Amino acid sequence: MHVFVTGATGWIGTAVVDELLGAGHEVTGLARSDAAALALGKKGARVRRGDLDDLDGLRDGALDAQGVVHLANKHDWANPAESNRAERAAVETIADALAGTDRPFVLAAGLSGLVRGRPAVETDVSPAVGPDSHRGGAENLALEYAGKGVRAVSVRFAPSVHGVGDHGFLAAITAAARRHGASAYPGDGTTAWSAVHRPAAARLVRLGLESAPAGSRLHAVAEEAVTTREIAEAVGRVLDVPVVSIEPAKAVEHFGFVGRFVTTDMAASSAVTRELLGWTPSGPTLVEDIEAGAYA
Ligand SMILES: NC(=O)c1ccc[n+]([C@@H]2O[C@H](COP(=O)([O-])OP(=O)(O)OC[C@H]3O[C@@H](n4cnc5c(N)ncnc54)[C@H](OP(=O)(O)O)[C@@H]3O)[C@@H](O)[C@H]2O)c1
Repeated sequence: MHVFVTGATGWIGTAVVDELLGAGHEVTGLARSDAAALALGKKGARVRRGDLDDLDGLRDGALDAQGVVHLANKHDWANPAESNRAERAAVETIADALAGTDRPFVLAAGLSGLVRGRPAVETDVSPAVGPDSHRGGAENLALEYAGKGVRAVSVRFAPSVHGVGDHGFLAAITAAARRHGASAYPGDGTTAWSAVHRPAAARLVRLGLESAPAGSRLHAVAEEAVTTREIAEAVGRVLDVPVVSIEPAKAVEHFGFVGRFVTTDMAASSAVTRELLGWTPSGPTLVEDIEAGAYA
């Protein structure tokens, strides 16, 4: 299959492109810089130069391909409204381009704010609806296209897609521990995150692209719940700093932008996803990756 991939040079996208090429698919990656274009070209992927705000380019990229994987996100933590706006516009543009083709459209989503007090499951519908909601309500918007001739599939990534080179939430937590000389968790440390090793997440994206039914919500989750205390203790051991509890209200002050997520439970099951696609996530656990120095 010829696949148009946005975010093809990001943390997850890099692994997804490798996974797709390794499985014999053709890839055209969206690149907004010379460095990104070079990196994609070296792997044997084609390049479409462009930006998330170039909606005509996104439309053409989708029309030229037999399937789309959308992983780009502005991640403007200082201005989430702008990231959400761009995400919704991009998703609407790609989905409109694919309408009536029955082609696959896999988009990235997250697990924050889905449920409270229990692990999220695939049948939990995101409460984010409309342009002003989390991620611009893009997951629900995309899945509406399942009824319009698009094989729309959402992949909800665990908040830690971990591994060597990760510059995401875990890197920010480790950086905060270095800054403060102490590895912190909020409150009693029972807030929990799900986690997945990066290559396993990439494999799931490929499987979803190849065969998930229209309207699927997939959970890229290997470990259902790793507590913030377990994470802080592992970081503390690696950096050789004390492990401390902080008031949840001070999480943003302590951790920066990631403080908003450190106080948010994002435990999730992937039982339905595993059963649906025969996906068995492998690789080190989050704590094993931290202890092996992935964030040191
Ligand atoms: N990593 C996680 O743990 C996690 C968890 C939950 C959800 N997600 C979601 O999964 C998706 C991929 O995440 P990631 O961790 O791979 O993110 P990432 O490493 O930050 O990569 C983001 C990608 O988006 C591209 N991008 C950013 N702004 C752009 C713009 N204006 N125009 C075109 N491309 C742009 C980047 O291009 P450059 O390479 O040129 O910078 C990069 O390829 C995102 O939607 C993210 O929110 C990730």
